[in-house]
Amino acid sequence: MPVPRSEYLSSVWRDGIFDGRVAFVTGGAGSICSAQTRALVHLGANACIIGRNVEKTEAAARDIATVRKGAKVLGIGGCDVRDPESLKQAAERCVRELGAIDFVIAGAAGNFVAPISALTPNGFKTVIDIDVIGTYNTVKATMPYLIESAKRNRNLEAADMLTGGRIIYISANFHYTGMPLQAHVSAAKAAIDALMASVSLEYGPYGVTSNVIAPGAIEGTEGMARLASSKTSQADKASTVPLGRWGTCRDICDATVYVFSDAGSHVNGEILVVDGGSWRLKGGYAVGLEANMKYPDFLLKGEFSPNLKDGRKERQSKL
Ligand code: COA
Repeated sequence: MPVPRSEYLSSVWRDGIFDGRVAFVTGGAGSICSAQTRALVHLGANACIIGRNVEKTEAAARDIATVRKGAKVLGIGGCDVRDPESLKQAAERCVRELGAIDFVIAGAAGNFVAPISALTPNGFKTVIDIDVIGTYNTVKATMPYLIESAKRNRNLEAADMLTGGRIIYISANFHYTGMPLQAHVSAAKAAIDALMASVSLEYGPYGVTSNVIAPGAIEGTEGMARLASSKTSQADKASTVPLGRWGTCRDICDATVYVFSDAGSHVNGEILVVDGGSWRLKGGYAVGLEANMKYPDFLLKGEFSPNLKDGRKERQSKL
């Protein structure tokens, strides 16, 4: 069953605005990044998605390719962003088979809910490795191609209005205030924001733009299955967002299309927060809690929700 366009694109974008462009997306089989890729491919791009799981990544690529006749979507599984060499090879393969890298989405991320007291040094390091080092590796592996793309696509100067040489990073909003049970991820996302800023300064002069998109809670994603109790009601969700709802993948896709399109040509070094205003609600949405768990009682009792998706628990229950 094809995914309806309204799930990943609003009505305002014109078909063909990314004709002939190529997007390279880490974490591209995940809920948010696969929707972003689908949106770019719908609007004319070809894409290469990278993931650790071979079957999942290849299946996602095949599925995304059905969105537009003639679309080419390469799924490169078995590639861990923590390994610079495998990323470099993936970027080379993307250019060999699709001809270029015009857009990059650094989306691969790792997360689980844990208080600092339950985090081992390796647990903390694992998230830093995936999110921060993985993002750094992505920048290093793709930047030569982004510079080439920026050279070919002079953005505003181009009569065809086609763009290139753009990178975005998927970050978060909770490190602006700090978030209990998310010390590791808050530290990682803050570092990604900082890396984005340095890239915007160092590579802006080459015509490359570098921006963060910071989603709030997004409905129906792997991330929120890990962060929010499966028992959270719609009313609880609504109460944590000034606009009265969690975001959708489409909200993030629209932000992505804006930043990569001709409309985003002068946006560089920016953090585009797409969260309905939730980070401005002090203590906004909390992760890992049931509705009756209030700050700071849950910390003092050493509690958090038992109704969270947790890969480690799943693996242990299979043993
Ligand atoms: N609570 C506390 N520590 C945890 C944990 C949890 N729920 N889950 C994992 N860890 C710790 C492990 O115990 C280990 O530390 P140790 O060696 O000191 O025991 C460390 O983290 C690494 O775990 P491991 O399972 O070997 O890592 P991995 O590389 O296979 O997986 C994760 C990385 C842990 C981030 C895993 O959750 C993952 O693969 N996530 C990817 C998908 C994802 O998170 N998507 C959501 C994005 S928002």
